[in-house]
Amino acid sequence: MQIKINKIFGKAKSLPLDLFLEKVLYDKNFGYYQKKNPFGKKGDFITAPNISNIFCEMIVIWFISFWESLNKPKKINIVELGPGNADFSEILVKTLKSFPQILKSVNIYLYEKSEKLTKFQKKRISSSKVLWIKNFNEIKKGPVIFFGNEFLDALPIKQFKKVNSQIFERHAINVKNKVSFVFKKALKSDINKLKKYQLFKKGGLIEFPEYGFKELNNICSVIRKQNGGALFIDYGYVSENKQNTLQSVYKHKFNDLSKNIGNADITSLVNFDLYRKYFLHKNLFVEKIISQSQFLQKMGILERSKMISHKMDYKRKIDLYSRIQRLISPYMMGETFKVIFAKNKKCKFSLAFK
Ligand SMILES: C[S@@+](CC[C@H](N)C(=O)[O-])C[C@H]1O[C@@H](n2cnc3c(N)ncnc32)[C@H](O)[C@@H]1O
Repeated sequence: MQIKINKIFGKAKSLPLDLFLEKVLYDKNFGYYQKKNPFGKKGDFITAPNISNIFCEMIVIWFISFWESLNKPKKINIVELGPGNADFSEILVKTLKSFPQILKSVNIYLYEKSEKLTKFQKKRISSSKVLWIKNFNEIKKGPVIFFGNEFLDALPIKQFKKVNSQIFERHAINVKNKVSFVFKKALKSDINKLKKYQLFKKGGLIEFPEYGFKELNNICSVIRKQNGGALFIDYGYVSENKQNTLQSVYKHKFNDLSKNIGNADITSLVNFDLYRKYFLHKNLFVEKIISQSQFLQKMGILERSKMISHKMDYKRKIDLYSRIQRLISPYMMGETFKVIFAKNKKCKFSLAFK
């Protein structure tokens, strides 16, 4: 059911793009992520953990290696950011059961905004090791490994443009119960933030992840205080883009941003270089940004596939390798998805990034 546009705007005539996106995606009463489970063939999109368990296993092995590199501390925390339909968390819990030493030391936290998805996750995951949190200060003592797959691209962004040395911000407006978009003069406080990251050097459209930076601000302070790092895998770019990367998807098809509001997923490409700069500002060390294909191959995805496909019949082998192909092929997710790893400056761990 299409949501009533008045509900989004309330008494406001217009909303900055990020506030508009926050409402249509996450509002408790009518937000996209609060209404349904959008993952998989029956939903609107398919993510890497939905494609293959081996993707998840590679990440879990990376976590275990990280813990080993820290000299196997007695307490280690793993935080999954935006666990979605819990495909990843399920494999995380299952795989760690084969590694009793880390299993004894680990606390797993799931950080989820959507109440609907939290309920769904709680139905799938039942383990004394797993807790759902709304605030990072609930994390116990010990180093922390944060992980987010397609977390950053689901966070609302702001958009700006420069016209004759004036800066304008994109707003959503309510025109007779239909959504339309306009540019309005930007606030000085926002312009200053953009200047800090030298985003006006070449003109064009500027996308600014204010919400993402707010989330990272808290994550970075935990990493500085407790040691550890944050690994993000997402759909995005490294060199300057200057394009409008907002994308609305409804039932696996591209959709007009102003249509199917509240029923379509809206994401944007992640500006990895901007996030890299943000982490550096926050006094963390950032490894070289690599592609999903590089990451997974360095973690041994092909060797693992060979091992488990050994006893498979032909049909299952084809299915397995077509999934792996989807994850690592440069024509599919392999290059368009990138991986960034930011860590405490004293941390030496760099598996897959060297
Ligand atoms: C695109 S989905 C990715 C899900 C999962 N990681 C995967 O790869 O299948 C984004 C997830 O992030 C959650 N999310 C978005 N913004 C959030 C926030 N500010 N805090 C916590 N979770 C958030 C969504 O509800 C959803 O579970």
